[in-house]
Amino acid sequence: MADNNPLKICFASSEFAPLAKTGGLADVNGALSTQLLRAGHDVRVLLPDYATLNREGLFVERVDFLQGLSIQIGPWKIDYAIDRALLSATGVPVYLLRCPTLYDRSGLYTAAADEHLRFIFLSRAAIEMCQRMRFAPDIFHCHDWHTSLIPLYLKTVYAWDKLFAGTRSVVTIHNIGYQGIFSADILPDLDLDGAEQYLHQEDLAAGRINFLKTGLLFADLLTTVSPTYAREIQGEQYGMGLHQLLQSRSDTLVGILNGVDDDEWNPENDALIPQTFSRSDLSGKAVCKQTLMRELGLTGAPEQPLIGVVTRLVGQKGIDLMQRVLPLLLTKREFSLAVLGSGEPRFEQFFSWMQQELRSRVCFYRGYNNRLAHWIEAGSDMFLMPSIYEPCGLNQMYSLKYGTVPIVRETGGLADSVQLVDPGARTGTGIVFREYDETRLAWAINLALDLYNDKPLWKQIMNNGMSMDFSWQRQAKQYVSLFRQLSGK
Ligand code: ADP
Ligand code: GLC
Repeated sequence: MADNNPLKICFASSEFAPLAKTGGLADVNGALSTQLLRAGHDVRVLLPDYATLNREGLFVERVDFLQGLSIQIGPWKIDYAIDRALLSATGVPVYLLRCPTLYDRSGLYTAAADEHLRFIFLSRAAIEMCQRMRFAPDIFHCHDWHTSLIPLYLKTVYAWDKLFAGTRSVVTIHNIGYQGIFSADILPDLDLDGAEQYLHQEDLAAGRINFLKTGLLFADLLTTVSPTYAREIQGEQYGMGLHQLLQSRSDTLVGILNGVDDDEWNPENDALIPQTFSRSDLSGKAVCKQTLMRELGLTGAPEQPLIGVVTRLVGQKGIDLMQRVLPLLLTKREFSLAVLGSGEPRFEQFFSWMQQELRSRVCFYRGYNNRLAHWIEAGSDMFLMPSIYEPCGLNQMYSLKYGTVPIVRETGGLADSVQLVDPGARTGTGIVFREYDETRLAWAINLALDLYNDKPLWKQIMNNGMSMDFSWQRQAKQYVSLFRQLSGK
């Protein structure tokens, strides 16, 4: 249903599915913007035109008045252009920020000396794009540290422009573990000319500038991606140094659980998996499991449970806990393991080693592979996600939709989306454990393996998960209602 008082919303982000993705940030931006567009809002997205952009199904048109542009950032004169891309699948207008000097790199993110510049530029180009289009956004929606300077820029460098008189800024924290902290030597590149006092002075004195913190100080509204994470980051354990600042802004910090993009992750019409299936007909899931195991060279019997893992291989995801538990458990219990991911070498080495030791039962695919991610979600019996912290997490929700029972740690969005099974009452959707230690993880996996043997109960648990509704439609409404309160529209 089209909204009869549409909002104008500008998204500025470093990731956007299916064009540029390293993790859930991309999925969320792709799905949320689509949902807002479908609800009748005027949404415009600005994304860097990375060399690695996925150009499949992308129709790009040159916008005459957005060609041959340049901007002075500190001592750097940056030449650029903006093209308009229409995604055939969703219709969301994504503007691509073309600047080969900054974005022709081998990945989305780099450790290069100009990393700060790449995202200062994105942030300022988003504001200047609105100026050139005479587009006065009601909401500037910024995501993570990469675009967290926008609220400050709106209040300083661009404060003169009446176009933004009614604009309110929102910073969504997808992951407080990445704050964009740079040496204070980059100060000239911020172009604050006299407005340096707005930066966090203690940080500055200590020789650093924190992009995310700056966003948390100046955005009109802060959101994060689950209600539990919104609470957790106000405490020392999860706040990563920003908890006191977040406490002081607790009246403007809201947690909204992410949704699942039904066009991309739905076992009933997933074009990427060997056979589709549904709650009422699970036969396709068995085919998915067989095909997956065959394809990955896992030779265990089909009755044996298969545990799936799809993840960035970084500390956050609880990989070190898996390291401490899985090798022993594999000698004690019968199950197979399908792991897809890439990241820190120590974790990649661990899974390669396990695969080498137990080739018939462990397969590790190192790298990024969207099709295999779908296959693992569809073909596994269980999905393991013992994160140290998890702002929302999407894979556990995909798992629930695909009848793949999640084994998760009780934190952030994992706590908000998975309910511990109660075998007596036949309720619950997965296995949830709290303490981050070997005993608890081993308990959780053992419990899942035990419950798996009780076929009717297991089917009920799968069914409970598959019946859950994680629609973006409902979640996007929560954003809209906050945006309306903020803009008074
Ligand atoms: P995060 O954003 O912290 O990485 P999420 O669970 O929110 O965690 O989202 C991860 C997203 O990235 C999911 O869509 C998942 O399927 C995808 N993903 C992660 N690693 C890979 C990989 N190696 N190959 C394909 N997709 C991956
Ligand atoms: C981050 C978080 C993840 C969340 C995603 C999308 O990368 O680590 O938990 O689901 O952003 O919001």
